[in-house]
Amino acid sequence: MDRIRLDATNLMADVVGPEHGITPAELEALAPASAAALEAVRARRTGDLRWLDLPYQDAVLEQILDYAAEVQGRFENVVVLGIGGSALGNLALSSALSSPYQDVAPSEGLPRLFVLDNVDPDLVGEWIDHFDVGKTLFNVISKSGGTAETMSQFLIFREKLVEALGEDGHREHVVVTTDAEKGILREIVNREGYESFVVPDGVGGRFSVLSPVGLLSSALVGIDVRGLLKGAAAMDEICATPSIDENPAQFYAAAQWLMQSSKDKAISVQFAYSHRLRLFADWYAQLLGESIGKRKGRDGSDRFVGPTPVRAVGVTDQHSQVQLYVEGPFDKWFTMLTVEESDHLVPIQSPYPDLEGAHYLNGRHLAELFRAERDGTRVALTEAGRPNCSVVFPKVDAHTVGQYVYWMELAVALMGEHYDIDAFDQPGVEAGKVAAYALMGRAGYEARREELERSAPAARRLI
Ligand code: PA5
Repeated sequence: MDRIRLDATNLMADVVGPEHGITPAELEALAPASAAALEAVRARRTGDLRWLDLPYQDAVLEQILDYAAEVQGRFENVVVLGIGGSALGNLALSSALSSPYQDVAPSEGLPRLFVLDNVDPDLVGEWIDHFDVGKTLFNVISKSGGTAETMSQFLIFREKLVEALGEDGHREHVVVTTDAEKGILREIVNREGYESFVVPDGVGGRFSVLSPVGLLSSALVGIDVRGLLKGAAAMDEICATPSIDENPAQFYAAAQWLMQSSKDKAISVQFAYSHRLRLFADWYAQLLGESIGKRKGRDGSDRFVGPTPVRAVGVTDQHSQVQLYVEGPFDKWFTMLTVEESDHLVPIQSPYPDLEGAHYLNGRHLAELFRAERDGTRVALTEAGRPNCSVVFPKVDAHTVGQYVYWMELAVALMGEHYDIDAFDQPGVEAGKVAAYALMGRAGYEARREELERSAPAARRLI
């Protein structure tokens, strides 16, 4: 098996100094709490944390593959309508495991994938202007089944479909992933008879990428979803051992906790040195931010905790953020996502032997340059005393991506134990949803609307 590894060398005090790096004594002191965290989280896998068991959902996988096979060749486009945990995983899987040009040059016989994870009318309106709903399958995803963004998009595209194909015809162009019983979307599925899949209980939005939420769109565009789940299962097995030194989820969770609580690093940067993996840095930003950013501790007291996730892309951000990272405040730690073997090498030839500034590139290839840039950044960060680690992918494929997803999900769950907060709720997100319903005049939210109107500033300060 090609296993992804954590290279934690440059997180340690002997490399970046004791002020910024972790000492073996600090790790040792945290080991009992880390083992207890693993036990507590794993004990919930058949209860409210069923996402831990997603690698083993063979029957659901077969249903997804059957549906993908049944509709193959019928659509030019697959459009995901969803937001947050119902969209970011789809984006990340597609960018990691399909061509970066899949939407302009899709593989033979496969549809293009679009993920419309915003209600900006210029995003949705442009799609409507340029594409044919009659050649499109809409994959509507919402765990709660009522999120305003997703519901509004569904209604807009439903109308376009009915205009183009009629009431009966439009139904073949909609597939829904939502709760088995609850929510408006499930009720709509029951009325319309749409094809549907289930977000299982115990699988929250940001932990749902290995459920039909992420698997269906992936299967539709030819991604190896079986390999993805196998990779996740392999990481589950690796992470079953309680050992802070051997279990990558335990180590990563402990590192996050120590970085913030002992080393004063409030910012966690995932720096993807891989175009394919860049949207996994976005996916992780949601996973970390929504899970650990909490007002209340588990005892109900006000805590106001959480790391600030930042995503960066190498080499692009070398020419944007790295100056800040190397010389700015010591408030960050870094996780580089690195790939040992890219799919392409891309040779470089120079016809200018007398111009050393071009000639040193002659006979080399882009993969070497990319590696040198990445290693150069790592050295610069380390020499400047900035703690950094690397998640090393032997290559980017479904199996290694499955490993990464499971590792990060489990690590974030373990972080919740260290921070002593509920990593699986999102009251801040819900508060925003309720305010939006109230502002849109949704029945049942009148009191909140009145409150918002009363608390609005008397005058606006427009400069
Ligand atoms: O992770 C989460 O729970 C959230 O980001 C949700 O995924 C997001 O708010 C969308 O919710 P839903 O899937 O219910 O439409």
